[in-house]
Amino acid sequence: MTTLPLDPARLRALFPAFSEPSLAGQAFFENAGGSYTAQPVLDRLDTYYRANKLQPYGAYPASIAAGEAMDLAFERMAAALNVSADWIHFGPSSSANTYVLGHAFSGWLKPGDAIVVTNQDHEANTGAWRRLAQHGIEVREWAVDARTGQLSLEALDRLLDAKVRLVAMPHCSNIVGDINPVAEIASRTRTLGAVLAVDGVSYAPHGLPDLAALGADIYFFSAYKTYGPHQGVMAVRPELAAQLPNQGHFFNDIKPRYRLTPAGPDHAQIAASAGIVDYLEAVADIAGPSVEGANPFRRAHAAMRAQEVSLSTPLLDYLRNRNDIQLIGPSDPLRRAPTIALRHSEPGLALAKRLATHGVMAGGGHFYAWRLLEALGIDPNHGVLRLSFVHYTTPEEIQQLIAALDAEL
Ligand SMILES: Cc1ncc(COP(=O)(O)O)c(C=O)c1O
Repeated sequence: MTTLPLDPARLRALFPAFSEPSLAGQAFFENAGGSYTAQPVLDRLDTYYRANKLQPYGAYPASIAAGEAMDLAFERMAAALNVSADWIHFGPSSSANTYVLGHAFSGWLKPGDAIVVTNQDHEANTGAWRRLAQHGIEVREWAVDARTGQLSLEALDRLLDAKVRLVAMPHCSNIVGDINPVAEIASRTRTLGAVLAVDGVSYAPHGLPDLAALGADIYFFSAYKTYGPHQGVMAVRPELAAQLPNQGHFFNDIKPRYRLTPAGPDHAQIAASAGIVDYLEAVADIAGPSVEGANPFRRAHAAMRAQEVSLSTPLLDYLRNRNDIQLIGPSDPLRRAPTIALRHSEPGLALAKRLATHGVMAGGGHFYAWRLLEALGIDPNHGVLRLSFVHYTTPEEIQQLIAALDAEL
């Protein structure tokens, strides 16, 4: 019997990793690096490799079925994000997607235009944009508070004016965990006629957002952190995508889905991504009627967040009472994702190795948030200890983690 909105046993039955003998007893606290893969994703991948592993969108039945399996993933992903299918692009990774977007913007923005980037982001959503300085674009940095690592709207407002054509920011940092007010920022960029590009990689594993409500023009995340295959998913407002210069082969300029993914997509993994959406529907089912929401995706999101808040509370309480460890970001579980980074006198990776002796799989390092660590006065090579979990983590695993922290830190 559990008071959690989601029954962990039913959730975990949908992940083969939880019945893998080599992982038994290992509490998984490195989900922000990549989550376990849900069974519906593996099923779709398996089907594609067995029955449809050939050129899609062709003339014969197996090829037509392959194309249909891919199209279904675009449609299902769009439905889960509450946008139309022409918003969706699948690329090799989020880093590859922003690299291509950055290149597209270099041909779209004009010298003298300004962009705003943060030093809270993973490098994928800041370095690719900062390179635009080479094209005469003015790059303004929205800097975090050096004490808390948080971004403030007041600091953003000081940077916004009519020259700003793009704001790039994280929905949630992979270190600070603070959930940034994207909808409020979208209303500011809309007023300016600027583009808002949001890195959702650290947010999406905790529930896919309703993009219509959020109002961003670009929202991307990594499917391998949302229970799926190793792909980057990118939603781009179709009117914006149409204006950006084509990054694909010249003869594909007329095909919107080919213009921003020059690497050529991995067909099987695109098809398998529909399994992420199947999984979210299963989560809504497990949540049952007591969790409210307009559709299964909103209900899954609400249930996952409520589950994580319950799981985070004892850990954040424990950390708050340890004045020898500094929690980075908010200690209120409602304000943050359960991606919890700790500053300590010992290097993050050394601490993670010690936790591993207690069957706790955690991460240590800078996690490509190099600029953020420097802003916080932490040597990136020293790094932080990062404890990241999601809705399928159990209260017993949280206790296992606390016991390990007690023993080792
Ligand atoms: C917040 C954040 N953004 C972007 C990325 C880059 O994602 P990918 O590995 O798909 O390039 C990561 C990866 O860890 C991340 O944590």
